[in-house]
Amino acid sequence: MKLTSIGWDAFKALSLKDKAACMVEDGRDRHVLFAQQYTRARLEALGALATQIRFAAKTKSGSDFLKDLLADKRAMLYFTQPSTRTFLSFSGACQITGMGTGDVRDSTTSSEFKGESLEDSVRTFSSYFDCIVMRTREQGLAERMAWVLSNSERPVPIVNAGSGKDQHPTQALLDIYTLQRSFKGQGGIDGKRMVFVGDLKRGRTVRSLASLLTRYDGVRMVFVAPPSLQVEKDVLDELDAAGVTYDLTDDFEAAIPEADAIYMTRVQDEWDREKGESARIDVSAFWFQKQHLRLLKPDAILMHPLPRRNEISPEVDHDPRAMYWRQMRNGMWIRAALMACLFQRDQDVRAYGEKMGTG
Ligand code: CP
Repeated sequence: MKLTSIGWDAFKALSLKDKAACMVEDGRDRHVLFAQQYTRARLEALGALATQIRFAAKTKSGSDFLKDLLADKRAMLYFTQPSTRTFLSFSGACQITGMGTGDVRDSTTSSEFKGESLEDSVRTFSSYFDCIVMRTREQGLAERMAWVLSNSERPVPIVNAGSGKDQHPTQALLDIYTLQRSFKGQGGIDGKRMVFVGDLKRGRTVRSLASLLTRYDGVRMVFVAPPSLQVEKDVLDELDAAGVTYDLTDDFEAAIPEADAIYMTRVQDEWDREKGESARIDVSAFWFQKQHLRLLKPDAILMHPLPRRNEISPEVDHDPRAMYWRQMRNGMWIRAALMACLFQRDQDVRAYGEKMGTG
C-alpha cells in the first residue's frame, strides 16, 4: 500500500507491520521510519555498502568519489530533541557524500515559535531540501510528517532519527552493522545471545534493535533490568510472533558469562512522569564494572548506544571487547550508506568498490 492511497486516520490505525510495509516500494525506502521495514537481505546489503564507503573514505581518490556521490542533494537536519551522536554522524555522513545540510536544533529559533504548524514547517523544508532527518520527542510525529509530505507536491523522504520512546531505526542499523562486523569470523549474528541491560522500558534503541534481531536465526535475548524498568509487552509480543526465545531477569552478574553481546543503556529520566521518579530506582546493580570483565567471554562484545552515565565504568574503555566507540563511529558509515540508498546511488558505490578491488 502507498501512503498516497490511504488517509491519515486509516494509516494511523494500521499495525506497525503494515505501516512499515507502506515505507518500502520496490525494495527501496520511501521513508526511514521503522526498524520493521528492514529485511535481513536489506540489512546485509546496507552493511556491505557501509563497509565499501568506509574503505573508499580512507583514500584521497575514494574520498573525492564519495564527495561527488550526492553533491546534487541537500539534507535538512531537524533535531528539536537533544542529540550529539545522531546529529553529528548524519552531518558527517552528509559531508562524506557531498550533501549540503541545513539544521534546526531548537524550535524556538524557527517560525514554529511564531505559531507555524510542524506540517507547514516540514513542507517549507521540503521546498529547500531533498530529505528531512528528524528527531522529535513526540511519538508518531515522524509518521505524520511522512504522510503529509507523501501527499504533497514535494514528497521528499523523512528519516526518523529518534521519535518518542518508540523508534530509533538508524541507531538499530548501526548496532546491526557493529554486530555484523564483530561476529564476522564467528558465524555472524545467527545463534548469538544478546543481553540488554538497564532502562528497557523507555529505551527506543532497544525496541528497534530487538526488532531487527528477529531477522536472524536462533538469536536468544535476555532482558536484564529492575522490574520497574523491564521491557514492555509490545517488544515481547513481536518476539513471540517471530518465535524468538527470550528471558527476563534482574540478575545482571548471572547473565554476563552467557552473553555474546551485552547492550547497556542508561536510565532515561527525560521520560519521568514526575520529578525524581527515576532517582528512586537503585540501578547500581546493573552497572558494568571493571571486575565484570573477567566474567565476560573472550570473544564477547560490550555495546552502548551512548550517552552513558554510570552504566559502564571508564576503566573498561580500553578492553578490546568494549565496542561502544567503534559502534558510534559505525553510525556515520551506515548513515552514509543509507543516504546513498535513499537516493539510489548505492550501485555507484558498489561499482566503485569493484573497480578498486574492495567490492
Ligand atoms: N545514541 C544516540 O542517539 O545518541 P545521541 O542522543 O547523542 O544522538
